[in-house]
Amino acid sequence: MSSLRLGSTAPDFQADTTNGPINFHEWIGDSWAILFSHPADFTPVCTTELGEVAKLSEEFQKRNVKAIGLSTNELKDHDQWVSDINEVTNVDLRFPIIADVDRKVSILYDMLDSEEHDPTNVLDGIPFTIRSVYIIDPKKKIRLTITYPASCGRNFDEILRVVDSLQLTDRNKVVTPANWTPGQEVIVHNSVTNEQAEKEFPGYKEVRPYLRFTTLPKDS
Ligand code: BEZ
Repeated sequence: MSSLRLGSTAPDFQADTTNGPINFHEWIGDSWAILFSHPADFTPVCTTELGEVAKLSEEFQKRNVKAIGLSTNELKDHDQWVSDINEVTNVDLRFPIIADVDRKVSILYDMLDSEEHDPTNVLDGIPFTIRSVYIIDPKKKIRLTITYPASCGRNFDEILRVVDSLQLTDRNKVVTPANWTPGQEVIVHNSVTNEQAEKEFPGYKEVRPYLRFTTLPKDS
């Protein structure tokens, strides 16, 4: 089992996907990536999740983010299920879905559930993939990991919010407060002295020496 940490390099791999075979790092290229796994094709929560990611495709594109799904189902299942997702959720799903039949990627990314087994699974007794999410930046560094229980569909608006925060805080010496959304006040990074803050964030508000708020100009 791997131990993947924030800031570590996302493991590279080759895989078969609904859009053809890929080398993961090459596929990411200069984009950001969201790698997310789901327990199984033709299941209700997963259907709504993949439909939601397809609906958000323009939002991902605006942020230079590519999405890629994964389960241990075969390509033919993925293909049939994508038709269903398109019909049921009224989308045109175009992002690739990895067919991780031999669980190579699932093991590499620690995506196997130790408790919830699917008795109808082809590989009976082997746990199926959990709802994992990885945000990976263009340098192929892992920037976020989240794991959800099988019973709870993910909030992909939250994933986009984290992408917005990561991209903003990579460009500016700020961090984002609880429940921040784009356009709201941000916090001046603690490494910035008050003298620098006067220059870079004129009019910033000091609530405590360690808590200084500022509003960034649009497109910062
Ligand atoms: C679902 O996607 O609905 C689901 C998958 C596995 C376990 C429970 C729910």
